[in-house]
Amino acid sequence: MSRPPALPGAPFLARRADGVLTLEGHALDDLAARFGTPLYVYSRASMRAALASYEQALQGREHLVCYAMKANSSLAVLQTFADAGAGFDIVSGGELARVLAAGGDASRVVFSGVGKTPEEMRQALRAGVRCFNVESLPELDTLDAVARSLGCVAPVSLRVNPDVDAGTHPYISTGLKGNKFGIAHGDAVVAYRHAAALPGLRVVGIDCHIGSQITQVAPYLDALDRLLDLVEAVEAAGVAIHHVDVGGGLGITYTDEQPPAPAELVAAMLARIDARGHGHRELLLEPGRSLVGNAGVLLTTALVLKPGRTDEGGKNFCIVDAAMNDLVRPAMYQAWMAIEPCRGRGEPPLVWDVVGPVCESGDWLGRDRTLAIEPGDVLAVLSAGAYGMVMASNYNTRPRAAELMLDGEAVHVIREREAVADLFARERLLPPAR
Ligand code: LLP
Repeated sequence: MSRPPALPGAPFLARRADGVLTLEGHALDDLAARFGTPLYVYSRASMRAALASYEQALQGREHLVCYAMKANSSLAVLQTFADAGAGFDIVSGGELARVLAAGGDASRVVFSGVGKTPEEMRQALRAGVRCFNVESLPELDTLDAVARSLGCVAPVSLRVNPDVDAGTHPYISTGLKGNKFGIAHGDAVVAYRHAAALPGLRVVGIDCHIGSQITQVAPYLDALDRLLDLVEAVEAAGVAIHHVDVGGGLGITYTDEQPPAPAELVAAMLARIDARGHGHRELLLEPGRSLVGNAGVLLTTALVLKPGRTDEGGKNFCIVDAAMNDLVRPAMYQAWMAIEPCRGRGEPPLVWDVVGPVCESGDWLGRDRTLAIEPGDVLAVLSAGAYGMVMASNYNTRPRAAELMLDGEAVHVIREREAVADLFARERLLPPAR
């Protein structure tokens, strides 16, 4: 593997001549000193720029970019995208409530997910979501019944499983036959006929999602071709389809990956759509990671250095105050995320495993990292804006981190650090023994 670039992927991240790491011009170790660690810090300009790159490529087309908010659902992040005109891809009633709390517009929301409850369907129908991305025949029947009970008609798109290999980690590959997602390609025409016959449903689109952290254009074009084949077959069977939703999944640079820019991906898809005579259709996209991933860092302080007997095969451990409960991607997917000292040091570096305080050997943030570091130093885990805070837990009764949003000169606390008392506030002791 070639050597990773110094600061992979993050356009608003820089290292000053004095060795200090900055995001949108703010010194990260100053923010750590002011607000404590573990601390997520996001750049609003970076999020806006990422959305703009999709929007510009789609100019002149009927389209909707629905931010897949599972990537980062903090209210201020949603507000940033709502203000910029984005729609949202949600997967739960909880996510819908967040969109509404952040000032988002339900008519720009698509509701994905393989297991929606009738209550979530009711909530979404009452709010007036734009579309339900339905994944099975039983779900069509339930949604039909729920819509009729409310005296309304539910707009539906069918999520089809195109059976293409996105070439990504198995846990985040979703468009293959063996995955739990979507309606099998071969069953789609029958499913559309079924949907069209139900009085509580109105067919509006077709959708798919083939995986996440995809770094090639080709799997998207394969999936798009499979979708357009189905659009043609479904329309030949007498059911009209308005929009085509190609899902999310565009990767970002964590190390030396070179994913296509959103503009490149969109241009390739539009060319394919036009070539096949579908240029009049509205195009929907559901990007998550590529809108927020490189916009955020996780700051953490080195607590203890435990040099190992490397001559005997031991390792050097740098124990930091962030752990797998704060950022689970390395433990869960063996994800490589860059780790950078927030202030450069002169000393010769050593090779460290950067690990958290949680009582599991799987609790690591980075392995075999060459770092010059002393206890008390602040490290930044880069590209942590997506699937970071949203996947945080309270394992080991660890309060979740605080979050900051940088916006030019301004520093906004967008989530206070959790207090330990919050963690058991809803628990009850048993009555005293008699
Ligand atoms: N639409 C649907 C239906 C999805 O399932 C997903 C992600 C997206 C859109 C957004 O995909 P993105 O643009 O973010 O790749 N926790 C994992 C990623 C799980 C992605 C699941 N689905 C990780 O940290 O890598």
